[in-house]
Amino acid sequence: MTRTARFERVAVGLDVEPIRARLEAMPHLWDEITARQEYTGSAHKDTQCIYPRGPYKFTPYYYMFDKGAYDYPVMDTLADVLVPVLRPLLAGVLQVEELGRVLIVKLKPGGVVTPHIDEGTYADHYARFHVAVTGTDKATLTAGPNTQHFAPGEAWWFDHKVTHSARNDGDTDRIHIIIDAVTARFPMRKVPVSDNVATTVASIVGNP
Ligand SMILES: [Fe+2]
Repeated sequence: MTRTARFERVAVGLDVEPIRARLEAMPHLWDEITARQEYTGSAHKDTQCIYPRGPYKFTPYYYMFDKGAYDYPVMDTLADVLVPVLRPLLAGVLQVEELGRVLIVKLKPGGVVTPHIDEGTYADHYARFHVAVTGTDKATLTAGPNTQHFAPGEAWWFDHKVTHSARNDGDTDRIHIIIDAVTARFPMRKVPVSDNVATTVASIVGNP
């Protein structure tokens, strides 16, 4: 199945092997930025990530409420393997009008991303796409009532404004590139915006 209410496959056959090989050759990149998995209450404790393009600062305000996105130094490090995959997808297939963050996320074997909704004005502004780099069919995302495996070399849109979670029941790392983008193919204006920013800020910094 390539389309449900919460998932849509947007590309297949992407040559992600050069990305996989580069990440394997540069394991220290996973340790440079740890804020996403370490904040109190994080749904992402079983993940590590690399930010080729990220927020202005890793504070709750900029992370959740600032729509700006900025190339980080690692974008240069990985550009020769990322650009050949991402440019045709973003400029051609999706005709992206505005590019948000680009992060590479590794979910460890046996790991989970606990159920959550991506909140804040940033998440309300951008549609979210995954490019699968590695992962067996035992690695899945669930969004609303639908569960989906993304095969390596496939790109998918999924609805991050419903409760979603992920699990990797395989015995190898699951690596996805997550891309936030504005595109007419997946308009966000139809999605209700978050309605209680004060509560949202408190939840990300771990207050009761
Ligand atoms: Fe999420």
